[in-house]
Amino acid sequence: MSRLILRGFEIWKGWLDVAAQTQVIDALRPVLKAAPLFSPDTPYGKPMSVRITSAGSVGWFSDQSGYRYADAHPSGVPWPEIPDPLMQIWDGVTGLDRRPDCCLINYYGDGARMGMHQDKDEADFSWPVVSVSLGDDGMFRIGNTTRGGKTESIWLNSGDVVVMGGPARMTYHGVDRIRFKSSRLLPKGGRINLTFRVVN
Ligand code: SIN
Ligand code: MN
Repeated sequence: MSRLILRGFEIWKGWLDVAAQTQVIDALRPVLKAAPLFSPDTPYGKPMSVRITSAGSVGWFSDQSGYRYADAHPSGVPWPEIPDPLMQIWDGVTGLDRRPDCCLINYYGDGARMGMHQDKDEADFSWPVVSVSLGDDGMFRIGNTTRGGKTESIWLNSGDVVVMGGPARMTYHGVDRIRFKSSRLLPKGGRINLTFRVVN
């Protein structure tokens, strides 16, 4: 495991070993069964290429009218609880007593990407957002606290954890592309990214 800081983001390379990654994937399975991945629409009218779902008391949601947190999955079922092995990542990396309200689960299939954005649908930006990468490699791009300007990128590999907090909490970030089938963690390939958020 090694730690580096890039534009204020704390990047833990190899926070989870393969056994821990497998434990997290196993814990995700019932969550994905109860609250299946879906393709949200965006306010721009184009569906996201990433498929999403959530665990926690609220889940992140997007449609024609904008981005927000919703109390239930689009099917109407409540979001499943955040499984313990996932919560332990937050506890371990942040050392905080406050736990997240939401674990957003993003699935990147072949060709999926995520444009540069800020995470700003939460009430209090003094809490960090913690991101966990699983499966295929993803090229993570980090910009500035305002849109535009020079950026830097880093490949995130399965088991890496990124803490986006402090002065970097509002830094723009996105995922340019994934290397489909670069990892064997997910039998069908693809990348899962978990982001833990204190919402309320
Ligand atoms: C996100 O910003 O929601 C996802 C980041 C990632 O996939 O690494
Ligand atoms: Mn984000």
